Amino acid sequence: MLGVCYYPEHWPESWWADDAKRMFEMGIRFVRIGEFAWSRMEPSRGFYDFEWLDRAIEVLGKAGLKVVLGTPTATPPKWLMDEHPDIAPVDERGQPRGFGSRRHYSFSSETYHKESSRIVEVLAKRYGNHPALAGWQTDNEYGCHLTVLSWGAEDLKAFQNWLRKTYQTTDQLNEAWGNVFWSMEVSNFDQISLPHLTVTETNPAARLDFWRFQSGQVAAYDKMQCDIIRKHSPGRWVTHNFMGFFNEFDHWKLGENLDFASHDSYPLGFAEQFPFSEQDHIKWAETSHPDIAPFHHDLYRGVGRGRFWVMEQQPGPVNWAPWNPVPKPGMVRLWTWEALAHGAEVVSYFRWRQAPFAQEQMHAGLNMAGLSDLSAGGTEAAAVGTELKKIGKLPKFEQAPVAIVYDYEASWITRIQPQGQDFRYHELVFRWYEAVRSLGLNVDFVPPGHSLKNYDLVLVPSLPHISDQALRAFEKAKGVVFYGPRTGSKTRHFAIPDGLAPGPLRGLLNMRVTQIASLRPGLNDTVSGKVSGTASRWREHVETSEQILARFANKEAALIASGQHHYLACWPDADLLHDIMQVLCRKAKLKTVKLPEHIRLRTCGNLTFAFNYGTKSWKVPKGAKLVLGSAAVKPQNVAAWT
Ligand code: GAL
Repeated sequence: MLGVCYYPEHWPESWWADDAKRMFEMGIRFVRIGEFAWSRMEPSRGFYDFEWLDRAIEVLGKAGLKVVLGTPTATPPKWLMDEHPDIAPVDERGQPRGFGSRRHYSFSSETYHKESSRIVEVLAKRYGNHPALAGWQTDNEYGCHLTVLSWGAEDLKAFQNWLRKTYQTTDQLNEAWGNVFWSMEVSNFDQISLPHLTVTETNPAARLDFWRFQSGQVAAYDKMQCDIIRKHSPGRWVTHNFMGFFNEFDHWKLGENLDFASHDSYPLGFAEQFPFSEQDHIKWAETSHPDIAPFHHDLYRGVGRGRFWVMEQQPGPVNWAPWNPVPKPGMVRLWTWEALAHGAEVVSYFRWRQAPFAQEQMHAGLNMAGLSDLSAGGTEAAAVGTELKKIGKLPKFEQAPVAIVYDYEASWITRIQPQGQDFRYHELVFRWYEAVRSLGLNVDFVPPGHSLKNYDLVLVPSLPHISDQALRAFEKAKGVVFYGPRTGSKTRHFAIPDGLAPGPLRGLLNMRVTQIASLRPGLNDTVSGKVSGTASRWREHVETSEQILARFANKEAALIASGQHHYLACWPDADLLHDIMQVLCRKAKLKTVKLPEHIRLRTCGNLTFAFNYGTKSWKVPKGAKLVLGSAAVKPQNVAAWT
């Protein structure tokens, strides 16, 4: 159940056997290698050098470890970039992005497709049936460093072709995009330019299609790699390591290529980057917020259709956030147990040993920089290894009672047209997740259109564009459904729907949104009725003949109900949101517990886990039969009971 990311090419060969032995001894069974090593695999065109990799895999395999082989395409080597400079992605200002870090390729580069398929095929043929090989990781963190959208000549050509296929005629495209506005009409697909470098904002419909197109390019590029691997490596799985709080492409779609999903879990780095208040940043700086890591475990379990790995687990301070504190003692162990409790099949630490050189020299590993001495995080990982031997396999994952409908397009739409600058989709979803998890409930994430029949409570924090499939799933839902602001507010082509928002949802909720106010910080409204609290950031004016559960200060509808369907016409602050969740859980007949902000639970078969992110101990319920930890769960500690 434990793994590690290892770079044999970074260390003298004489160290490999000892590294492998020490990995095995601490309970590690999987090693991911190779994902950045193209310059060593093929130092110049057509001159392959795999002998070092053969030996590395041999050494690891002999020590009892299974290898996860990464395709090296996140780092095209210098000779290739010199031969084909047009592989490089182009930023939004039209500047090509240079060589000397990583991810310097555009997903639309035909040359890069060819070169990638060549190196992937060579690798898959050579190692595809190796007894030490467990499976594959395609590339590394697609889109990292903002590389999904590229604005070059080849991107333009491919986009024009995509539009030709999608719309067939420019009349249809002009109509769909509303190009009559500002004389934007075109009469030929070659006249279309990428939506950038204009005097003022570009057409949102064009921008949304460009995003859809680029997201599709990422999935197609990945599929090319998966197909080659499957052909030459039958019976081995393929995964990809997705990033946290990263919505640049549709992970649901790409996930369809994979046997399961993986994600890279950096709880402290993510907490630093999250738009918390200053006070909350300080509170969670050294532990992370208790919902950040689990949010991603639950999301990627969904993307992986029930299966996921943590491919990279933070082992100590990282190097890339604005501030990079050391995790409080106990947190590396806690995060590991928490991932396993949320269904991770393997938790693999990044990385085995801190590199004393190059860009990531300030990033911790399980061993200190350039040494074979365990770091603080390494010692905790070893402790989990020992505990796991005692506990054995955890019970199988089960469906949660609560589903959150998560939509990548919702993120694109609200970024293309924020309307209020603090309307952040990922923040909204995170807050809804937090509110329901603070009631002790397990949560699944599902894509729009996924069956909702077996969920007691369905949360839709915001879904601006409701597809026919998504609508059908809402119509067939059996539990309580709760929609948030902006749901149903756009058509597929980024227009306001006929008859106003919530568009197609009006068949389920007789209401319409007549005005929308975005509210600057400090400008709030109050909500009162069956629930009460504050609305901030976003407030809709609604006409409805449905039941009104709570009203704004001027008596207009804030929370609306029609049978099991509920609509909230604002961005709720924590007090209001928690109140609503309690009322809806009661209506859905869910058993809840009110947890302190630093405690989270996760049930996993007959086991319940508690995780303490705070500074005060917490008592497990009376009668609990402990299998891990003690009845008073200390800060940064874990308990599990039946
Ligand atoms: C990940 C990446 C790794 C490494 C790590 C550092 O985003 O996949 O290669 O850079 O971050 O935290």
